[in-house]
Amino acid sequence: MQRMRQLVKDHTSLSEAEIDRLAEVTHTMQLLADLSYADILLFCRTEGGAFMVVAEAKPNTAISLYSENRVGTILDEPENPAVVEVFTVDSSQEVAKQSLDGQQIEIKAVPVIFDKEAIAVLSREIKLPGPTSEMEHMYMSMADQILKMVSNDELVGMGSPSFSTTRTAGDGIMKIESDGSIAYASPNAVSIYRRLGVEGNLVGRRIQEISRYEEAVVRALEAKRVRQKETTERGRTVLRRAIPLLDNGNLTGALAIVRDVTDLRRRDQELRIKEATIREIHHRVKNNLQTIASLLRLQARRLRSAEARDALLESVSRISSIAVVHEILAGQEAETVDFGELVGKISDVVLQGIGTHAELKVEVKGKSGMVPADTATSLAMVVTELMQNAFEHAFTDGRAGTVTVSLERRGRRLDVAVADDGVGLPKGFDLASQANLGLQIVQTLVHDELNGELKISSNRGTKVRISLGVPEREKET
Ligand SMILES: Nc1ncnc2c1ncn2[C@@H]1O[C@H](COP(=O)(O)OP(=O)(O)OP(=O)(O)O)[C@@H](O)[C@H]1O
Ligand SMILES: [Mg+2]
Repeated sequence: MQRMRQLVKDHTSLSEAEIDRLAEVTHTMQLLADLSYADILLFCRTEGGAFMVVAEAKPNTAISLYSENRVGTILDEPENPAVVEVFTVDSSQEVAKQSLDGQQIEIKAVPVIFDKEAIAVLSREIKLPGPTSEMEHMYMSMADQILKMVSNDELVGMGSPSFSTTRTAGDGIMKIESDGSIAYASPNAVSIYRRLGVEGNLVGRRIQEISRYEEAVVRALEAKRVRQKETTERGRTVLRRAIPLLDNGNLTGALAIVRDVTDLRRRDQELRIKEATIREIHHRVKNNLQTIASLLRLQARRLRSAEARDALLESVSRISSIAVVHEILAGQEAETVDFGELVGKISDVVLQGIGTHAELKVEVKGKSGMVPADTATSLAMVVTELMQNAFEHAFTDGRAGTVTVSLERRGRRLDVAVADDGVGLPKGFDLASQANLGLQIVQTLVHDELNGELKISSNRGTKVRISLGVPEREKET
Protein backbone atom coordinates (compact mmCIF):
# COMPACT_ATOMS: atom_id res chain seq x y z
CA MET A 1 0.00 0.00 0.00
CA GLN A 2 2.77 2.44 0.97
CA ARG A 3 4.60 1.17 -2.08
CA MET A 4 1.60 1.98 -4.27
CA ARG A 5 1.42 5.54 -2.96
CA GLN A 6 5.11 6.12 -3.51
CA LEU A 7 5.08 4.67 -7.03
CA VAL A 8 2.08 6.73 -8.06
CA LYS A 9 3.57 9.89 -6.57
CA ASP A 10 6.89 9.32 -8.28
CA HIS A 11 5.63 8.36 -11.72
CA THR A 12 2.27 9.96 -12.35
CA SER A 13 0.62 13.34 -11.93
CA LEU A 14 -2.38 12.00 -9.98
CA SER A 15 -3.61 14.19 -7.12
CA GLU A 16 -3.75 13.24 -3.42
CA ALA A 17 -7.51 12.62 -3.68
CA GLU A 18 -7.00 10.38 -6.67
CA ILE A 19 -4.28 8.43 -4.88
CA ASP A 20 -6.62 8.03 -1.91
CA ARG A 21 -9.17 6.51 -4.24
CA LEU A 22 -6.55 4.11 -5.58
CA ALA A 23 -5.73 3.14 -1.99
CA GLU A 24 -9.41 2.25 -1.47
CA VAL A 25 -9.38 0.22 -4.66
CA THR A 26 -6.26 -1.71 -3.62
CA HIS A 27 -8.11 -2.67 -0.44
CA THR A 28 -10.65 -4.62 -2.50
CA MET A 29 -8.16 -6.39 -4.74
CA GLN A 30 -7.47 -9.40 -2.52
CA LEU A 31 -11.17 -10.22 -2.30
CA LEU A 32 -11.48 -9.90 -6.07
CA ALA A 33 -8.46 -12.14 -6.58
CA ASP A 34 -9.78 -14.79 -4.19
CA LEU A 35 -13.32 -14.79 -5.55
CA SER A 36 -12.22 -15.01 -9.17
CA TYR A 37 -9.24 -17.36 -8.71
CA ALA A 38 -7.24 -14.78 -10.61
CA ASP A 39 -4.42 -12.30 -10.46
CA ILE A 40 -5.61 -8.75 -10.03
CA LEU A 41 -3.34 -5.92 -11.14
CA LEU A 42 -3.73 -2.18 -10.88
CA PHE A 43 -2.13 -0.11 -13.64
CA CYS A 44 -1.40 3.61 -13.79
CA ARG A 45 -0.21 5.63 -16.72
CA THR A 46 3.18 7.21 -16.06
CA GLU A 47 4.04 10.75 -17.07
CA GLY A 48 6.06 9.28 -19.93
CA GLY A 49 2.95 7.44 -21.18
CA ALA A 50 4.00 3.95 -20.08
CA PHE A 51 1.69 1.56 -18.19
CA MET A 52 2.98 0.65 -14.76
CA VAL A 53 1.79 -1.98 -12.29
CA VAL A 54 1.27 -0.10 -9.01
CA ALA A 55 -0.42 -2.86 -6.99
CA GLU A 56 -1.19 -6.54 -7.34
CA ALA A 57 -3.11 -9.24 -5.54
CA LYS A 58 -2.45 -12.93 -6.00
CA PRO A 59 -5.29 -15.36 -5.32
CA ASN A 60 -5.19 -17.46 -2.15
CA THR A 61 -7.65 -19.80 -3.82
CA ALA A 62 -5.60 -20.64 -6.92
CA ILE A 63 -2.06 -20.58 -8.24
CA SER A 64 -0.90 -17.20 -9.43
CA LEU A 65 0.12 -16.85 -13.07
CA TYR A 66 3.25 -15.09 -11.95
CA SER A 67 5.92 -16.35 -9.64
CA GLU A 68 7.49 -12.94 -9.27
CA ASN A 69 6.23 -9.73 -7.78
CA ARG A 70 5.13 -7.39 -10.55
CA VAL A 71 4.63 -4.15 -8.66
CA GLY A 72 6.76 -1.40 -10.18
CA THR A 73 7.15 -3.09 -13.55
CA ILE A 74 6.26 -1.40 -16.80
CA LEU A 75 3.88 -3.16 -19.14
CA ASP A 76 5.17 -4.26 -22.48
CA GLU A 77 2.30 -3.02 -24.67
CA PRO A 78 1.64 -6.14 -26.74
CA GLU A 79 1.63 -8.15 -23.51
CA ASN A 80 -1.70 -6.80 -22.38
CA PRO A 81 -3.73 -5.08 -25.12
CA ALA A 82 -6.88 -4.98 -22.96
CA VAL A 83 -5.26 -2.66 -20.43
CA VAL A 84 -3.90 -0.41 -23.15
CA GLU A 85 -7.32 -0.30 -24.83
CA VAL A 86 -9.09 0.84 -21.69
CA PHE A 87 -6.54 3.58 -21.13
CA THR A 88 -6.43 4.87 -24.69
CA VAL A 89 -10.00 4.45 -25.91
CA ASP A 90 -12.70 5.53 -23.48
CA SER A 91 -13.75 1.96 -22.92
CA SER A 92 -15.71 0.69 -19.92
CA GLN A 93 -14.46 -2.86 -20.24
CA GLU A 94 -12.14 -4.88 -22.45
CA VAL A 95 -11.71 -8.62 -22.55
CA ALA A 96 -8.87 -10.30 -24.40
CA LYS A 97 -7.67 -13.86 -24.66
CA GLN A 98 -4.04 -14.61 -25.23
CA SER A 99 -1.31 -17.02 -24.40
CA LEU A 100 1.24 -16.54 -21.67
CA ASP A 101 4.16 -18.97 -21.46
CA GLY A 102 2.10 -21.53 -23.36
CA GLN A 103 -1.00 -21.07 -21.17
CA GLN A 104 -4.25 -19.64 -22.43
CA ILE A 105 -5.38 -16.74 -20.26
CA GLU A 106 -8.24 -14.31 -20.29
CA ILE A 107 -7.66 -10.71 -19.35
CA LYS A 108 -10.46 -8.43 -18.32
CA ALA A 109 -9.65 -4.77 -17.86
CA VAL A 110 -11.88 -2.07 -16.41
CA PRO A 111 -11.16 1.58 -15.73
CA VAL A 112 -11.05 2.99 -12.20
CA ILE A 113 -13.27 6.03 -12.51
CA PHE A 114 -12.84 9.07 -10.32
CA ASP A 115 -14.67 12.28 -11.05
CA LYS A 116 -15.73 10.84 -14.42
CA GLU A 117 -12.10 10.28 -15.42
CA ALA A 118 -10.26 6.98 -15.72
CA ILE A 119 -7.34 7.35 -13.32
CA ALA A 120 -6.17 3.75 -13.43
CA VAL A 121 -7.04 0.36 -14.86
CA LEU A 122 -7.81 -2.81 -12.93
CA SER A 123 -7.04 -5.99 -14.76
CA ARG A 124 -7.94 -9.54 -13.92
CA GLU A 125 -5.96 -12.35 -15.45
CA ILE A 126 -7.53 -15.80 -15.36
CA LYS A 127 -6.03 -19.04 -16.49
CA LEU A 128 -8.46 -20.69 -18.92
CA PRO A 129 -10.74 -22.67 -19.01
CA GLY A 130 -11.76 -20.63 -15.96
CA PRO A 131 -14.49 -21.64 -13.50
CA THR A 132 -15.96 -25.11 -13.85
CA SER A 133 -18.05 -25.94 -10.77
CA GLU A 134 -21.29 -24.27 -9.73
CA MET A 135 -19.48 -22.78 -6.76
CA GLU A 136 -16.77 -21.28 -8.93
CA HIS A 137 -19.36 -19.80 -11.30
CA MET A 138 -21.19 -18.25 -8.40
CA TYR A 139 -18.01 -16.67 -7.03
CA MET A 140 -16.99 -15.49 -10.45
CA SER A 141 -20.30 -13.79 -11.12
CA MET A 142 -20.11 -12.00 -7.78
CA ALA A 143 -16.51 -11.04 -8.52
CA ASP A 144 -17.67 -9.63 -11.86
CA GLN A 145 -20.26 -7.50 -10.15
CA ILE A 146 -17.81 -6.25 -7.55
CA LEU A 147 -15.24 -5.49 -10.23
CA LYS A 148 -17.83 -3.41 -12.01
CA MET A 149 -18.74 -1.61 -8.79
CA VAL A 150 -15.11 -0.79 -8.13
CA SER A 151 -14.63 0.59 -11.59
CA ASN A 152 -17.93 2.53 -11.39
CA ASP A 153 -16.89 4.33 -8.24
CA GLU A 154 -19.44 2.35 -6.19
CA LEU A 155 -17.11 1.15 -3.46
CA VAL A 156 -19.91 1.16 -0.81
CA GLY A 157 -17.31 1.23 1.96
CA MET A 158 -15.26 -1.78 0.81
CA GLY A 159 -12.17 0.39 0.66
CA SER A 160 -12.46 1.59 4.24
CA PRO A 161 -9.71 0.25 6.48
CA SER A 162 -12.28 -0.71 9.12
CA PHE A 163 -13.88 -3.20 6.73
CA SER A 164 -11.78 -6.28 6.27
CA THR A 165 -11.78 -7.69 2.75
CA THR A 166 -9.35 -10.52 3.33
CA ARG A 167 -10.49 -14.10 2.93
CA THR A 168 -9.22 -17.24 4.51
CA ALA A 169 -9.66 -20.84 3.46
CA GLY A 170 -12.24 -21.43 6.19
CA ASP A 171 -14.59 -18.61 5.18
CA GLY A 172 -18.14 -19.49 4.27
CA ILE A 173 -19.58 -17.61 1.32
CA MET A 174 -23.24 -16.93 0.63
CA LYS A 175 -25.01 -15.18 -2.17
CA ILE A 176 -28.05 -13.35 -0.89
CA GLU A 177 -30.87 -12.02 -3.07
CA SER A 178 -32.06 -8.46 -2.60
CA ASP A 179 -35.06 -9.66 -0.54
CA GLY A 180 -32.77 -11.57 1.81
CA SER A 181 -33.30 -15.07 0.49
CA ILE A 182 -30.23 -17.24 0.25
CA ALA A 183 -29.36 -18.13 -3.34
CA TYR A 184 -26.20 -20.03 -2.61
CA ALA A 185 -24.28 -21.19 0.46
CA SER A 186 -20.82 -22.72 0.25
CA PRO A 187 -20.02 -25.94 2.15
CA ASN A 188 -18.04 -23.91 4.69
CA ALA A 189 -21.02 -21.63 5.28
CA VAL A 190 -23.29 -24.63 5.78
CA SER A 191 -20.95 -26.19 8.32
CA ILE A 192 -20.48 -22.94 10.26
CA TYR A 193 -24.26 -22.53 10.52
CA ARG A 194 -24.57 -26.15 11.56
CA ARG A 195 -22.19 -25.44 14.44
CA LEU A 196 -24.52 -22.59 15.37
CA GLY A 197 -27.43 -25.01 15.48
CA VAL A 198 -28.97 -24.16 12.10
CA GLU A 199 -29.98 -27.46 10.54
CA GLY A 200 -31.10 -28.28 7.05
CA ASN A 201 -30.81 -26.42 3.81
CA LEU A 202 -29.88 -22.78 3.80
CA VAL A 203 -30.69 -22.14 0.17
CA GLY A 204 -34.17 -20.79 -0.37
CA ARG A 205 -34.60 -19.55 3.20
CA ARG A 206 -34.55 -15.89 4.10
CA ILE A 207 -31.47 -14.79 6.01
CA GLN A 208 -33.58 -12.84 8.55
CA GLU A 209 -35.21 -16.10 9.61
CA ILE A 210 -32.00 -18.09 9.93
CA SER A 211 -30.86 -16.50 13.18
CA ARG A 212 -31.21 -13.28 15.08
CA TYR A 213 -27.59 -12.36 14.45
CA GLU A 214 -27.87 -11.53 10.77
CA GLU A 215 -27.61 -7.80 11.26
CA ALA A 216 -24.62 -7.45 8.92
CA VAL A 217 -26.47 -8.73 5.86
CA VAL A 218 -29.78 -7.12 6.76
CA ARG A 219 -28.21 -3.71 7.27
CA ALA A 220 -26.03 -4.05 4.18
CA LEU A 221 -29.12 -4.67 2.07
CA GLU A 222 -30.95 -1.76 3.67
CA ALA A 223 -28.18 0.80 3.62
CA LYS A 224 -26.37 -0.40 0.48
CA ARG A 225 -23.11 -0.16 2.42
CA VAL A 226 -20.73 -2.86 3.61
CA ARG A 227 -21.31 -4.11 7.15
CA GLN A 228 -19.47 -6.40 9.51
CA LYS A 229 -20.38 -7.72 12.90
CA GLU A 230 -18.83 -10.16 15.31
CA THR A 231 -21.14 -11.98 17.69
CA THR A 232 -20.88 -14.79 20.18
CA GLU A 233 -23.70 -17.32 20.11
CA ARG A 234 -23.82 -20.83 21.55
CA GLY A 235 -20.24 -20.39 22.75
CA ARG A 236 -18.89 -19.70 19.27
CA THR A 237 -17.65 -16.38 17.97
CA VAL A 238 -18.61 -15.65 14.40
CA LEU A 239 -17.60 -12.77 12.17
CA ARG A 240 -20.17 -11.89 9.55
CA ARG A 241 -19.41 -9.55 6.71
CA ALA A 242 -21.68 -8.40 3.92
CA ILE A 243 -21.11 -6.48 0.72
CA PRO A 244 -24.17 -5.21 -1.13
CA LEU A 245 -24.06 -5.95 -4.84
CA LEU A 246 -25.07 -3.01 -6.97
CA ASP A 247 -25.67 -2.65 -10.64
CA ASN A 248 -25.59 1.02 -11.58
CA GLY A 249 -26.91 1.91 -8.16
CA ASN A 250 -29.62 -0.78 -8.10
CA LEU A 251 -29.40 -3.40 -5.40
CA THR A 252 -29.19 -6.89 -6.84
CA GLY A 253 -28.26 -8.75 -3.67
CA ALA A 254 -25.34 -9.18 -1.30
CA LEU A 255 -22.24 -11.23 -0.82
CA ALA A 256 -22.07 -12.57 2.73
CA ILE A 257 -18.87 -13.96 4.25
CA VAL A 258 -19.09 -15.87 7.53
CA ARG A 259 -16.05 -16.88 9.51
CA ASP A 260 -15.82 -18.89 12.71
CA VAL A 261 -13.25 -16.96 14.73
CA THR A 262 -13.79 -18.85 17.99
CA ASP A 263 -10.31 -20.42 18.09
CA LEU A 264 -8.70 -17.22 16.99
CA ARG A 265 -10.37 -15.19 19.74
CA ARG A 266 -9.59 -17.88 22.29
CA ARG A 267 -5.93 -17.78 21.29
CA ASP A 268 -5.97 -13.98 21.42
CA GLN A 269 -7.26 -14.17 24.95
CA GLU A 270 -4.78 -16.83 26.01
CA LEU A 271 -1.99 -14.71 24.60
CA ARG A 272 -3.20 -11.65 26.47
CA ILE A 273 -3.34 -13.60 29.72
CA LYS A 274 0.12 -15.00 29.10
CA GLU A 275 1.52 -11.57 28.37
CA ALA A 276 -0.04 -10.14 31.51
CA THR A 277 1.42 -13.01 33.56
CA ILE A 278 4.87 -12.46 32.17
CA ARG A 279 4.62 -8.75 32.94
CA GLU A 280 3.57 -9.56 36.48
CA ILE A 281 6.53 -11.90 36.89
CA HIS A 282 8.95 -9.26 35.68
CA HIS A 283 7.37 -6.87 38.14
CA ARG A 284 7.93 -9.28 41.02
CA VAL A 285 11.48 -10.04 39.97
CA LYS A 286 12.15 -6.32 39.96
CA ASN A 287 10.70 -5.95 43.46
CA ASN A 288 12.74 -8.86 44.77
CA LEU A 289 15.93 -7.49 43.27
CA GLN A 290 15.24 -4.10 44.82
CA THR A 291 14.71 -5.74 48.19
CA ILE A 292 18.04 -7.54 47.89
CA ALA A 293 19.74 -4.29 46.90
CA SER A 294 18.24 -2.51 49.93
CA LEU A 295 19.40 -5.26 52.28
CA LEU A 296 22.93 -5.03 50.96
CA ARG A 297 22.87 -1.25 51.18
CA LEU A 298 21.76 -1.47 54.84
CA GLN A 299 24.51 -3.92 55.56
CA ALA A 300 27.08 -1.75 53.81
CA ARG A 301 26.21 1.18 56.07
CA ARG A 302 27.05 -0.85 59.15
CA LEU A 303 30.49 -1.85 57.91
CA ARG A 304 33.62 -0.08 59.15
CA SER A 305 35.95 -1.32 56.45
CA ALA A 306 35.81 0.98 53.43
CA GLU A 307 36.87 -1.84 51.15
CA ALA A 308 34.07 -4.13 52.28
CA ARG A 309 31.56 -1.29 52.04
CA ASP A 310 32.61 -0.46 48.48
CA ALA A 311 32.35 -4.10 47.50
CA LEU A 312 28.80 -4.31 48.80
CA LEU A 313 27.80 -1.03 47.16
CA GLU A 314 29.15 -2.29 43.87
CA SER A 315 26.97 -5.34 44.18
CA VAL A 316 24.06 -3.04 44.91
CA SER A 317 24.51 -1.30 41.59
CA ARG A 318 25.04 -4.57 39.73
CA ILE A 319 21.75 -5.86 41.10
CA SER A 320 19.97 -2.55 40.58
CA SER A 321 20.79 -2.46 36.90
CA ILE A 322 19.27 -5.90 36.40
CA ALA A 323 16.21 -4.58 38.22
CA VAL A 324 16.03 -1.73 35.72
CA VAL A 325 15.70 -4.24 32.86
CA HIS A 326 12.85 -5.99 34.62
CA GLU A 327 11.14 -2.73 35.41
CA ILE A 328 11.06 -1.87 31.73
CA LEU A 329 9.94 -5.35 30.73
CA ALA A 330 7.13 -5.23 33.28
CA GLY A 331 5.79 -2.06 31.68
CA GLN A 332 5.44 -3.35 28.14
CA GLU A 333 3.82 -6.11 26.16
CA ALA A 334 6.69 -7.47 24.13
CA GLU A 335 9.57 -9.57 25.40
CA THR A 336 11.98 -7.21 23.69
CA VAL A 337 13.48 -3.96 24.92
CA ASP A 338 14.94 -0.90 23.30
CA PHE A 339 18.35 -1.13 24.92
CA GLY A 340 19.15 2.53 24.19
CA GLU A 341 16.28 3.52 26.48
CA LEU A 342 17.78 1.37 29.23
CA VAL A 343 21.20 2.99 29.12
CA GLY A 344 19.97 6.30 30.53
CA LYS A 345 18.38 4.55 33.50
CA ILE A 346 21.45 2.42 34.09
CA SER A 347 23.64 5.49 34.27
CA ASP A 348 21.35 6.98 36.93
CA VAL A 349 21.71 3.80 38.95
CA VAL A 350 25.51 3.79 38.63
CA LEU A 351 25.89 7.48 39.47
CA GLN A 352 23.67 7.02 42.52
CA GLY A 353 25.70 4.08 43.75
CA ILE A 354 28.99 5.87 43.42
CA GLY A 355 27.81 9.23 44.68
CA THR A 356 30.15 10.92 42.28
CA HIS A 357 30.52 14.64 41.65
CA ALA A 358 28.39 16.67 39.27
CA GLU A 359 31.05 17.29 36.65
CA LEU A 360 30.50 13.85 35.12
CA LYS A 361 27.89 13.14 32.50
CA VAL A 362 26.71 10.30 30.29
CA GLU A 363 25.81 10.67 26.64
CA VAL A 364 23.99 8.08 24.58
CA LYS A 365 24.45 8.11 20.82
CA GLY A 366 22.76 6.06 18.13
CA LYS A 367 20.07 3.43 18.43
CA SER A 368 20.16 -0.19 19.51
CA GLY A 369 16.80 -1.23 18.12
CA MET A 370 14.85 -3.91 19.97
CA VAL A 371 16.77 -6.68 21.70
CA PRO A 372 15.40 -9.75 23.50
CA ALA A 373 14.98 -9.54 27.27
CA ASP A 374 17.81 -11.93 28.17
CA THR A 375 20.28 -10.16 25.87
CA ALA A 376 19.22 -6.86 27.40
CA THR A 377 19.83 -8.19 30.92
CA SER A 378 23.39 -9.33 30.17
CA LEU A 379 24.14 -6.20 28.20
CA ALA A 380 22.83 -4.04 31.03
CA MET A 381 25.28 -5.67 33.44
CA VAL A 382 28.14 -5.18 30.99
CA VAL A 383 27.38 -1.50 30.53
CA THR A 384 27.00 -1.08 34.29
CA GLU A 385 30.49 -2.46 34.88
CA LEU A 386 32.02 -0.33 32.15
CA MET A 387 30.36 2.85 33.40
CA GLN A 388 31.38 2.04 36.91
CA ASN A 389 34.98 1.65 35.77
CA ALA A 390 34.90 4.94 33.94
CA PHE A 391 33.54 6.79 36.96
CA GLU A 392 35.90 5.03 39.34
CA HIS A 393 39.16 4.99 37.44
CA ALA A 394 39.07 7.53 34.63
CA PHE A 395 38.47 10.77 36.46
CA THR A 396 40.56 10.16 39.54
CA ASP A 397 42.03 13.65 39.63
CA GLY A 398 38.56 15.15 40.07
CA ARG A 399 38.45 16.41 36.50
CA ALA A 400 35.23 16.86 34.54
CA GLY A 401 34.42 14.20 32.03
CA THR A 402 31.97 12.47 29.77
CA VAL A 403 31.15 8.83 29.31
CA THR A 404 29.74 8.16 25.85
CA VAL A 405 27.72 5.08 25.08
CA SER A 406 27.44 4.58 21.32
CA LEU A 407 24.97 2.16 19.85
CA GLU A 408 24.84 0.97 16.29
CA ARG A 409 22.46 -1.58 14.87
CA ARG A 410 22.86 -3.11 11.40
CA GLY A 411 20.33 -5.91 10.90
CA ARG A 412 21.30 -8.61 13.34
CA ARG A 413 24.54 -6.92 14.38
CA LEU A 414 24.66 -4.69 17.42
CA ASP A 415 27.75 -2.68 18.32
CA VAL A 416 27.98 -1.10 21.73
CA ALA A 417 30.88 1.13 22.74
CA VAL A 418 31.49 2.68 26.13
CA ALA A 419 34.14 5.41 25.98
CA ASP A 420 35.43 7.97 28.46
CA ASP A 421 37.72 10.97 28.08
CA GLY A 422 39.61 10.27 31.28
CA VAL A 423 43.15 9.27 32.20
CA GLY A 424 43.22 6.07 30.17
CA LEU A 425 44.26 2.57 31.16
CA PRO A 426 47.41 2.01 33.22
CA LYS A 427 50.55 1.65 31.04
CA GLY A 428 50.88 -1.84 29.58
CA PHE A 429 47.45 -2.91 30.82
CA ASP A 430 46.74 -6.54 29.97
CA LEU A 431 43.13 -7.61 29.96
CA ALA A 432 43.87 -11.29 30.48
CA SER A 433 46.00 -10.86 33.57
CA GLN A 434 44.94 -7.55 35.10
CA ALA A 435 41.17 -7.77 35.01
CA ASN A 436 39.58 -7.74 38.42
CA LEU A 437 36.06 -8.96 39.10
CA GLY A 438 34.45 -6.16 37.04
CA LEU A 439 36.16 -6.84 33.73
CA GLN A 440 35.99 -10.57 34.38
CA ILE A 441 32.21 -10.33 34.63
CA VAL A 442 32.21 -8.28 31.44
CA GLN A 443 34.31 -10.81 29.55
CA THR A 444 32.28 -13.78 30.73
CA LEU A 445 28.98 -12.15 29.81
CA VAL A 446 30.18 -10.98 26.40
CA HIS A 447 31.74 -14.30 25.43
CA ASP A 448 29.45 -16.83 27.07
CA GLU A 449 26.07 -15.13 27.32
CA LEU A 450 26.10 -12.79 24.37
CA ASN A 451 28.36 -14.74 22.01
CA GLY A 452 30.02 -11.47 21.21
CA GLU A 453 33.46 -9.94 20.92
CA LEU A 454 35.15 -7.43 23.12
CA LYS A 455 37.94 -4.98 22.43
CA ILE A 456 39.47 -2.60 24.91
CA SER A 457 41.68 0.25 23.81
CA SER A 458 43.18 3.30 25.40
CA ASN A 459 44.18 6.39 23.54
CA ARG A 460 42.92 9.58 25.05
CA GLY A 461 40.69 7.96 27.62
CA THR A 462 39.46 4.40 27.45
CA LYS A 463 37.16 2.76 24.95
CA VAL A 464 35.55 -0.66 25.20
CA ARG A 465 33.83 -1.98 22.11
CA ILE A 466 31.44 -4.89 22.08
CA SER A 467 29.94 -6.47 19.02
CA LEU A 468 27.23 -9.10 19.17
CA GLY A 469 24.55 -10.80 17.12
CA VAL A 470 20.96 -10.15 18.11
CA PRO A 471 18.45 -12.85 17.18
CA GLU A 472 15.82 -11.44 14.85
CA ARG A 473 12.29 -11.64 16.15
CA GLU A 474 9.28 -11.60 13.88
CA LYS A 475 8.37 -8.05 13.09
CA GLU A 476 5.46 -6.58 14.96
CA THR A 477 2.94 -5.14 12.63
N1 LIG B 1 37.71 3.47 32.15
C1 LIG B 1 38.90 3.18 32.75
N2 LIG B 1 39.85 4.13 32.86
C2 LIG B 1 41.01 3.84 33.45
N3 LIG B 1 41.33 2.65 33.95
C3 LIG B 1 40.44 1.65 33.87
C4 LIG B 1 39.18 1.86 33.26
N4 LIG B 1 38.50 0.70 33.29
C5 LIG B 1 39.29 -0.19 33.90
N5 LIG B 1 40.47 0.37 34.26
C6 LIG B 1 41.59 -0.32 34.93
O1 LIG B 1 41.38 -1.72 34.82
C7 LIG B 1 41.36 -2.31 36.10
C8 LIG B 1 40.46 -3.50 36.13
O2 LIG B 1 39.08 -3.11 36.08
P1 LIG B 1 37.98 -4.04 36.70
O3 LIG B 1 36.67 -3.46 36.44
O4 LIG B 1 38.23 -5.41 36.23
O5 LIG B 1 38.27 -4.01 38.23
P2 LIG B 1 38.07 -2.85 39.28
O6 LIG B 1 37.24 -1.80 38.71
O7 LIG B 1 39.41 -2.49 39.77
O8 LIG B 1 37.29 -3.59 40.41
P3 LIG B 1 35.82 -4.16 40.37
O9 LIG B 1 35.99 -5.64 40.40
O10 LIG B 1 35.17 -3.65 41.55
O11 LIG B 1 35.20 -3.73 39.11
C9 LIG B 1 40.98 -1.19 37.03
O12 LIG B 1 41.46 -1.40 38.33
C10 LIG B 1 41.66 0.00 36.38
O13 LIG B 1 42.99 0.12 36.72
MG1 LIG C 1 35.34 -2.27 37.79
